[in-house]
Amino acid sequence: SSPLRLGIVGLGTVGVGVLRLLEKNAAVIAARAGCALKVVAVSSRDRHRNRGVDLSGYRWYEQPEALVDDPEVDVVIELIGGAEGAARSVVKKALQAVKPVVTANKALIAVHGVELADIAQKNSVPLMFEAAVAGGIPVIKAIREGLAADHLYWVGGILNGTCNYILSTMRKTGRDFAEILKEAQALGYAEADPSTDIDGIDTAHKLCILAALSFGMPVDFSSIYIEGIRHIGADDLHFAEKMGYRLKLLGISCLTRNGELEARVHPCLVAGGHPLGYVDGVFNAIVAKGDFIGQLTLEGPGAGAGPTATAVVADLIDVARGSTVPVWGAYHSGGSPIRSVSRDMF
Ligand code: HSE
Repeated sequence: SSPLRLGIVGLGTVGVGVLRLLEKNAAVIAARAGCALKVVAVSSRDRHRNRGVDLSGYRWYEQPEALVDDPEVDVVIELIGGAEGAARSVVKKALQAVKPVVTANKALIAVHGVELADIAQKNSVPLMFEAAVAGGIPVIKAIREGLAADHLYWVGGILNGTCNYILSTMRKTGRDFAEILKEAQALGYAEADPSTDIDGIDTAHKLCILAALSFGMPVDFSSIYIEGIRHIGADDLHFAEKMGYRLKLLGISCLTRNGELEARVHPCLVAGGHPLGYVDGVFNAIVAKGDFIGQLTLEGPGAGAGPTATAVVADLIDVARGSTVPVWGAYHSGGSPIRSVSRDMF
């Protein structure tokens, strides 16, 4: 069958990873998708930056929105990032033009996911965001599809690779916060503005998405309690360890007994033997608890070009196969209010 033609907006770390993966694994991807996946157009600010990949075969657009208008682009891959600006308008425009969208943009889905899902649903067009949460861990699929039969009441974990890398490297080496952060940036883990990572905002974006999927309700991002790791020093890590704990930045969400949603991001003391206590480096881990599943832990690489690219391309394969999973799983037949978060415990 004829190839699925792709347009990529945003050629940073993840964009280049997607190009590499599509090229290297072309045969197996085509076999699993039922057709070839072919990039035809790209858009990025700087055409001439050396990215180490050959871009000569693709049409180049200065304006991301112009790529959406290209009649040969069947699917738009949004890798610009950020909740507002070009990312938001490109995704909206694509969905309105009935072009499937695959995005790694957690800020966009956390803040505008309800509005965008409504457009997608109305136009019967896929909006996919596996890459938005925990990089290479297939957690969106796990919660939305794998656990679709259960009633979840707790979901959370280590959702930011940069923070986990900083905290675990500080603990092991006693080295300086700023120096380790620079390393995380050089390795392609950190956000363009790393304060998004270290102030807990990136964790909160991912938590917002996970909570909405897990509990079947839209979640108001602005009401999540957020605290980052800027104030953590080597002493904190040292004393935590002496007491048998690990200091981790966690995103936690749960349903209280009266059905309220609680969602918060802050550093936590995790007991050494807990599944989240062992997770070091750039890895992420998610714990989900449900009536029938009991407790499930997913752990894996949470950031970086390769792992995040696998999630983007898995979504593309689903689009090629004609997947019709609803954007948010079970909810959103309309009407349910955006939940704000109980802060009683503070
Ligand atoms: N900056 C993010 C992290 C990238 O460090 O986890 C993956 O979303």
